[in-house]
Order: sequence, then structure tokens, then C-alpha cells
Amino acid sequence: MATQKFTVQSFKASKKEKRPITMLTAYDYSTTCLLEEAGVDSILVGDSLGMVMLGYDNTLRVTMDEMIHHTKAVSRGVRNALLIGDMPFLSYHVSVEEAVRNAGRFVQEGGAEAVKLEGGPDVIDKIRAIIKAQIPVLGHLGLTPQSINLFGGFKVQGKELEAARRLVDDALLLQDAGVFGIVLESVPDVLARLISQKLDIPTIGIGAGPHCDGQVLVIQDLLGTFRRMKPKFVKTYAELGDATVAAVKSYMEEVRERKFPGPEHSFKMDGALLAKL
Ligand code: KIV
Repeated sequence: MATQKFTVQSFKASKKEKRPITMLTAYDYSTTCLLEEAGVDSILVGDSLGMVMLGYDNTLRVTMDEMIHHTKAVSRGVRNALLIGDMPFLSYHVSVEEAVRNAGRFVQEGGAEAVKLEGGPDVIDKIRAIIKAQIPVLGHLGLTPQSINLFGGFKVQGKELEAARRLVDDALLLQDAGVFGIVLESVPDVLARLISQKLDIPTIGIGAGPHCDGQVLVIQDLLGTFRRMKPKFVKTYAELGDATVAAVKSYMEEVRERKFPGPEHSFKMDGALLAKL
């Protein structure tokens, strides 16, 4: 549990001390305050917000402005967790200059302490340039959702020999470029274990089995409040979706029966004053 500030250096120390890193997504202030109360190590403002907050079909339509808006809100609630902003589709693909400028926006406008971006050799020049601009980078390999049109959907990656070899090579390439950790998404657990063993930096798994150096989940998945899809790797720790529907129904019933608001929720006025009106 993060009782003092968790930094990119804590990432490295956690791996050395074999202490699993906890990471969750957040997109708003009040959820962030609850995650801080629980003491999560790291908070990711994921571009998954496009799906769970904005209702898009995938993450490809998320813009820089949308990411910055939510990162600002989260940063107001962050105290000890490391705050990471997720670079959206096309914010780091066009040129090195644009990639650095957009990564800088996460830090300068959003209040993030690091950025995450998806991909290996195709984006390595951007990763190097962002780190050179003194912005720590978290890599992301395996099922990289910004590439679903190339992958043909949300599919497990690295199941064949060549693809698995490529993932190992890409992970080593990212480490060599200076990333402070790598998210491994939807890859076989034994491959994630092998990659984790080969790297000095921590791996953060999502759908990558128990052998990664840390785990990340989308907060709505953990709380059961996003019902449109549920990947196999999701564990729902609380059914707050059901609890929310039940609470809203109770509220509606009490409003319709004039049971809410009760005297304890109402403001009083001197009867003598009322008589003068
Ligand atoms: O956007 C996101 O939430 C992510 C995590 C699932 C790793 O990239």
C-alpha cells in the first residue's frame, strides 16, 4: 500500500524486492480519492475512458483534449499514487515532435507524472524522444487496443512462435530505450512469465496471468459498473452495477411515495415568519 509517494523509482524497487505493483484506471476526481484512500500504487488515466466513460465502441476516437480533461480531474485527487496519462491514438504516431509535445501536455496541463503509449519498433523513436524530454514512459505490448483494426479485433497476442519471439524482442527493445515498465495485455501467462524474467523493469499484466510484476484493471470492471462487455481476464470484486440500479429504484420509489425527502433532509423556518407571507 502506498503510504508515501510512489514514483518511477518505486517501480524499479518493487521489482527488485519482488513486491507486486497495483495499478488501476481512474477518470474522475471522486473515484481517484477512493483509490488513494485504498492506497493503490499507481493510477492510469487510460484511453479506455473512451469506452467506459464516453460510450465509444473502441479507444480510437479518443482525443488529446478528452484525455487532458480527465487527467486534470484525476490529478486533483492524486496524493501518493504515481499518475500516468495514456497517449491516445494518433497523438504520437505522426511525428517525433508531435509525440513529445503531446506527452508534454499530459505533464504540463494534465498534471501527470508519466505517460503510457502502445507499440514496439514502430514507435521506438517517439519513446526515446519523450524520455529525452524528461518524461517517464510506460510501454504497452501484446493486445494494444489502438491496433484492433490491424489485429482484426480484441484477440490474445503472442500465441504463435514468431509472434511470441517478436513480443520478447519488443520488450527488450523498450527496456533498452529506457521505459520504466511495460504493460502486457492479453498474452499467454507463460509468455508473460518469460518476459518478466528476462526484464529488469517491471511488467504490469492485464490478461497476462499471475507472474507479471504488477497488475492493472479498469476500475469499472473491478466494480461491476460497465456491463457492455466483460473480457475473460476481468475479476469483478464488487457488484456496484447491481447496487447502483437497486439504489436508484429505491430513490424513485421513495420520491413517488413522498417518503423522500424526510424531515432530516429538509430545512426549517420560523412558523411566525411564514404566517406573515
Ligand atoms: O486504457 C487503458 O485502460 C489501458 C489499460 C487497460 C492498461 O491501457
